[in-house]
Amino acid sequence: MRYLIKLRMKFFIKTFGCIQNTADSERIKAFYWDKGFEEIKNWKEADIVIINTCIIRESAENRVYGLIDNIDKWNKKNKSKIKIIVTGCLAGLADKDKTGKKLRQLKKDFPAVSEFMPIEKISFDIKPLRENNDMALIPISFGCSNFCSYCIVPFARGPEKSRKMEEILEEIDDAIKTGFKKVMLIGQNVNSYGSDFGETTLVSMGKKRFKSLFHKLLEEVAKKDLDKISFVSSNPWDFSDELIEIIAKYENIDRLLHLPIQAGDDEVLKNMNRGYTSKEYLDLVKKIRSKVKGVKFSTDIIIGFPGEGEKAFQNTVKLCKEVNFEIGYLNKYSPRKGTVSAKIYKDDIPMSEKKRRWNILNDLINKK
Ligand code: 5AD
Ligand code: SF4
Repeated sequence: MRYLIKLRMKFFIKTFGCIQNTADSERIKAFYWDKGFEEIKNWKEADIVIINTCIIRESAENRVYGLIDNIDKWNKKNKSKIKIIVTGCLAGLADKDKTGKKLRQLKKDFPAVSEFMPIEKISFDIKPLRENNDMALIPISFGCSNFCSYCIVPFARGPEKSRKMEEILEEIDDAIKTGFKKVMLIGQNVNSYGSDFGETTLVSMGKKRFKSLFHKLLEEVAKKDLDKISFVSSNPWDFSDELIEIIAKYENIDRLLHLPIQAGDDEVLKNMNRGYTSKEYLDLVKKIRSKVKGVKFSTDIIIGFPGEGEKAFQNTVKLCKEVNFEIGYLNKYSPRKGTVSAKIYKDDIPMSEKKRRWNILNDLINKK
């Protein structure tokens, strides 16, 4: 008698970049398990390798290319046939380019890749296979409509799209049922959540904006049986008074707020298209501190943006001293093709100088 043993196909997934990608990977994993695949930890034994990519800086993009190359070489040397599937921001960039030029170029540059798969292919009907047993990652919006001059995200992820509130709350209820006590709400700009639903306007930082529903969503989440609710990333210009009230009202909302400043110099902020001045940022921090007891701040800073002279850098140092951030995520400026800053400014701060400034800010913020 002959037995037919059906071997399970194996997949390996590598996730680069931000927490959004980590959350997406949790759904990609569930998608492949549902198809009958088994996840393994060594890519050399996989039938398919899924690379969830990040392209926010050149260094991140190069790490993606390095992995594709390694798998390709391994396949050739060992006559193996590991299939490579690329998803995340690199695939998004190709997908959003309606001329098809970017996809053709990628296919030409990386013939070893079988598929560039837009992340949208993985539906939200798929329940994520949560990696982190402590905190459930809950995407609430995708993409970004801000177009900060240096940033590739709006090109790779498209304009901001918010998930329906009921769908988000349902996912959180599911997570609570399986024992989660902490959740993190995730989006490129969480505090403009729902503004793409196009309701009435509200005023923040003296400017009119489409009304965000984030404070409403946050309140609904805070009312649930949860010990901690965090959210990333917020942007200063969408941090409304209503939102501050809700944070103050519910103690289970994380008191460590992530509020990217990017630079402390007004000229640089203007060239970054950030839409606020250092004073407006400081005033916002003061306002939040006066209303929310025990609040602390973490931030993102870009070091060596074009034209950032010593004086401008010192303005950032000064602002960091004033705010006294808990954590600073420090990013050396990297021009990204297609962005405004890459088009109109020369990357004129030498790497050695970016490193020097990085060390100064790292000592100041992260080594207290
Ligand atoms: N160069 C360096 N850092 C960047 N970031 C975004 N784009 C760039 C770039 N071109 C940083 C910002 C952002 C974080 C996610 O990445 O600080 O907040
Ligand atoms: Fe990029 Fe600015 Fe959008 Fe953040 S808010 S993702 S930095 S464009």
